[in-house]
Amino acid sequence: MTDKNSIDAFMRGIPKAELHLHIEGSLEPELMFALAHKHGVKLPYASVEELRNAYQFDDLQSFLDLYYAGAAVLRDEDDFHALTMAYLKRVHADGVVHVEIFFDPQTHTERGIAFATVIDGIRRALADGEREFGITHRLIMCFLRHLDAADAMRTLEQALPYKDAIVAVGLDSSERGHPPSKFEAVFSRARSEGFLAVAHAGEEGPPAYIIEALDLLKVARVDHGVRCEEDPALVQRLVQDRMPLTVCPLSNVKLRVVERMQDHNLKRLLDRGLCVTINSDDPAYFGGYMFANFQAAQRGLDLSREDITQLAANSIEASFLRAAEKKHWQEKIREFVAA
Ligand code: ADE
Ligand code: ZN
Repeated sequence: MTDKNSIDAFMRGIPKAELHLHIEGSLEPELMFALAHKHGVKLPYASVEELRNAYQFDDLQSFLDLYYAGAAVLRDEDDFHALTMAYLKRVHADGVVHVEIFFDPQTHTERGIAFATVIDGIRRALADGEREFGITHRLIMCFLRHLDAADAMRTLEQALPYKDAIVAVGLDSSERGHPPSKFEAVFSRARSEGFLAVAHAGEEGPPAYIIEALDLLKVARVDHGVRCEEDPALVQRLVQDRMPLTVCPLSNVKLRVVERMQDHNLKRLLDRGLCVTINSDDPAYFGGYMFANFQAAQRGLDLSREDITQLAANSIEASFLRAAEKKHWQEKIREFVAA
């Protein structure tokens, strides 16, 4: 086996968790067209190929415009089931053993789809996926930060009957101009209801937004967080607290957070002792699922087997699995590396 084949097999095979995945961002053009046809929706693209060619982004907002438009084909429970099942099947082939999935209820409730339709379809697929592929799961409900805090609070209230199914609340969508502080009261209420908290911060926004996410929203993980490097005291704090960052390498290149993969700070942050993980964010839009993200980062940053092992171990450490489950997977990672 060549060196490349061998490190690829290692990256694919090592047990790992995906912690930053927007289920709506796993909607492949083929399924988008099939659902558009099913519901009699006309897409502004003539073919799958034409749609894929439109996936050229200047920044986060230019992506979000397409992402929200695409999600409009998701209408009934079976659509959300099909979407989630396709994702699980795909990442099973990448050696993913556990997933923590974001969903954006407001993207759907805003267009008259019931909260129950969304969550019931996703949950049914997660249960089917665990039975079929052995992939365990947690569900994280994100608030759209470009909408107001009152809308987020109403969404939180809709989620209360599903407390047992949702482990955490998150914060996503347009970061610039929508600081975490806008959602302090919503997150406070969510935590008092028993939800854990995560938030996108420091993707396009400044390090100050990461500090707000930690201090005001009391997050257990920071999604992206790559701009922390601009504030050395913050980096030190993240290292000291072993605060996980769910980094998304292909997303960062596609949305021009970094110019090229070779410029990504993932390896520097890992070497600094940060609990960095690799994730796919919106794989249908950014050119690949978990393995593709590992592969692109490995090639661009010359990651070693030790780096890959650390990234996989970090993904288990940073997950919301129970202590015994984490112990089980850390042991499996050690066995895999030894073999
Ligand atoms: N929603 C889906 N993907 C996102 C990202 N990368 N940043 C913010 N919001 C998102
Ligand atoms: Zn994201």
